[in-house]
Amino acid sequence: MSRALPRTFMVQPLSRFSGPLPGYTRPAEVASYSHDKHRQLHHDDRALAYYHAARVGETDLNTGYPDRYIKRDDGVDERLDGLCEAIQQAKQRKLQEHGTDERLLADVVCFRGVMTRLLCAPYDCSDGFSIRISKYKGTIYLCGETPEEKREAERMRGDRRYPMMDRMGYWGYRFEGYSTIPVPPDQLDRGQEEDTRVRKWKDDYVVDTHQEYCSVFASRLGQTRLLMGAEVDCGKNPGKGEDVMGRYVELKTSKLIKNDRDVRSFERYKLLKFWAQCFLPGIPRIVVGFRDEAGVVRKIQTIQTMEIPRMVRHQSHGWDASVCLKFLDELLMWLKTELSSLPEEVDMDGDIPVHSISMKAPFQSVELDLYTGRDGFLLRQ
Ligand code: A3P
Ligand code: MG
Ligand code: MG
Repeated sequence: MSRALPRTFMVQPLSRFSGPLPGYTRPAEVASYSHDKHRQLHHDDRALAYYHAARVGETDLNTGYPDRYIKRDDGVDERLDGLCEAIQQAKQRKLQEHGTDERLLADVVCFRGVMTRLLCAPYDCSDGFSIRISKYKGTIYLCGETPEEKREAERMRGDRRYPMMDRMGYWGYRFEGYSTIPVPPDQLDRGQEEDTRVRKWKDDYVVDTHQEYCSVFASRLGQTRLLMGAEVDCGKNPGKGEDVMGRYVELKTSKLIKNDRDVRSFERYKLLKFWAQCFLPGIPRIVVGFRDEAGVVRKIQTIQTMEIPRMVRHQSHGWDASVCLKFLDELLMWLKTELSSLPEEVDMDGDIPVHSISMKAPFQSVELDLYTGRDGFLLRQ
C-alpha cells in the first residue's frame, strides 16, 4: 500500500460557500429493488410498504421488543453490490428499450446515506466519517466506512448503555410498523372488518431489518451527475407514473418537544438530517412520531421537506441549506479534479485501487487520502 500526503478540502469558514447556488435537478427513479427476509435481492417492489397513519395513543413503540426484533448483522460488508447490480440491470433494460443508457451514466455513484453525511458536514460534525472511494470507467464510487470501524464505534459506546440504545433503535423501526400496511390503501374496503385486519397487521408486526425496499435515482448537482440508492420507508400508493419519488414517505421518530431547548435541538440537528436525507432523493413528506421517554408516540406531524430550510434559516441556532449544497457541489468538484490526475488502473488480479476521504475532529477540513489500497469494494462490471 503506498500512501501520499493527504490532500485537504477546507470546510471552515463556511462563508466560503456563499456564492450562487448550484442547481439540483429533480431526482428521477431509474430502478428499484427489494431485499427479502433472507436478504436476497429481487428486482421488484415486494418489500415496499404503504403509508397508513398510526393512531396516537395506540402506538407503544416497545410492543414486540425484544422477541419480534430480527436484526441484520451490520458487521457484514455489503459494499455497493446491490446498488451496482440494480444499475447494471437498469442499463441493460434501457439499452434494449431505448437503445441508450445515457440516463444511467454518472460521475458519482453511492448510497444516499454517504451523500447525506457530506451534505450535513458543514453543520454536523458530531462524529467524523470515513468514506472509501474507487474510480472505475470514469465513474467515482463512494462507499461507507468499513464494518471494522463500525464495530469499534459500537465497542466505544460502552456495554452499559447498549441495552437502551438497542431498544431506541427498535422504536424507530416499530414506528414504521405502526405507520404502514403491506397492501396499497386503495385496496382496502372501509368498515369494521378492514379495521380489524389493519389493526392485526400493526399489532403483529415483526421488525426484520433484512427486509428493505430501495429506490435508485438519478439527479445532478451543478456539473456532477449523481446516481444514488436510497432505502425508502413507504409509498403513498402504487404505480410508476412520472413523479415516483413524490409518492414516497419518510418515517421518523423523535423525542417529544417540551421546552425551548428541545426546539433548538430538534431544529438544529434533527431537521438538518431529515432535510438532507429527503432532499437528495426528492421525497416530499416526512411523518414524524414524537415519542415520550417511555417510547409511546404522543403526537404525529407531517413535515414538508422543502419547507424545512425556511423553518430554520433565521434562527440563531439555524443552518443554511444553500451552504450545504454549495459545500457539497464544491467538494464533489474537488474530488473529481483530484482523482482525475490518478491513473485509472485495474491490476493483474482485477483489483481496483481504493482511496478514502475522511473528516475527523476538529472538523475543519475533509482529507483525501490518496493511498492505493487493495481492500476493494467494487465488483468488476
Ligand atoms: P428513527 O430515524 O425514527 O430513529 P430511517 O429513518 O433512516 O429509515 O431509519 C429507520 C430507523 O433505523 C431509525 O428510526 C432508527 O431506529 C434506526 N437507525 C437508523 N440508523 C441508525 C443508527 N445509525 N444507529 C441506530 N439505529 C439506527
Ligand atoms: Mg428508512
Ligand atoms: Mg425512516
